[in-house]
Amino acid sequence: MSIIEFLPTEKFVFGSEICRFLEISRTAVRERINRLRQIGYTIKSSSKGYIIVKKCELFNEYEIEANLKKPLNICKMIKYYKETASTQTAVKKLALKNFGEGVVVIAEKQTKGYGRIKRVWNSNAGGLWFSMLLKPVIRPDGSSILSLLFSIALSRILEKKYGISSEIKWPNDILICGKKVAGIIIEMSAEQDIINWVAAGIGVNINNSLPEDLKNISISIKEVLKREIDRTEFIVAFLTEFESLYFNFQSGGFKQFLEEYNSKVAYKDVLVTVDSACNDAITGKNFGIDESGRLIIETKNKIEKIISGTLRRAEN
Ligand code: BTN
Repeated sequence: MSIIEFLPTEKFVFGSEICRFLEISRTAVRERINRLRQIGYTIKSSSKGYIIVKKCELFNEYEIEANLKKPLNICKMIKYYKETASTQTAVKKLALKNFGEGVVVIAEKQTKGYGRIKRVWNSNAGGLWFSMLLKPVIRPDGSSILSLLFSIALSRILEKKYGISSEIKWPNDILICGKKVAGIIIEMSAEQDIINWVAAGIGVNINNSLPEDLKNISISIKEVLKREIDRTEFIVAFLTEFESLYFNFQSGGFKQFLEEYNSKVAYKDVLVTVDSACNDAITGKNFGIDESGRLIIETKNKIEKIISGTLRRAEN
């Protein structure tokens, strides 16, 4: 339960009532009120209790918790920063301190946000930058599938909630009108047969302005809809969608999502090149993915199944 569910904007509420509802001490209530003030809520306190005078304009953990309709295993605890270097770095630190599955770290701004192959990830205020700590019970070689699941969840939310159709550029870029709106990075610690933890980082261009040099390759949801959207609603819908995808994947494998993923694959049936850090680039016709998440490419001589790499349209 989030404290803001019990903090009205129309009338005062006694601290003792909040204590009773949330089953926490007076000191804990005071600490939470102070935290709300720190992140931007204006809260008046008097002998009549507490009242919210002005809500926080930034989205934050309290609004998210208050809007989740049911408790989620993948989101048991939210840590919110107005600014941090990278939510990935923050969540990996928590993983090393043995935090369990279900920590979500969110930042309004990142000063050192990064993407795959250590590319800089532009993270101005207004976007949605978050990382999740997961402990999936799957073999380490199946971990790349997770980014496919995140892509499906993002693409479903764009369609269902905002009527935006998107494509997935394998393995994990979400495109709208051919431009990148979201990216996913998966980092993990594993042993031969088990995954210790996965840090999944997701960046979605929502209400943020994009720098000039990215404008021809990236897009924001605000640009598509010509209006700002509520990031709390977006992340709540995303987390709820991902919870069920993740559960179904762990119990039934990826096959159940294969058709949906392939129906959204970008550059399908066209000539693409896959660049990779370890192997030579491969060029061929893109047939989408197989049930292990490998990209199927028909080159001049044979069918290749590629585990990882970066996809682009082939040059003519
Ligand atoms: C990519 O497209 O290469 C992946 C981009 C991932 C960016 C997100 S933003 C939240 C999290 N924190 C980071 O530093 N990176 C990820």
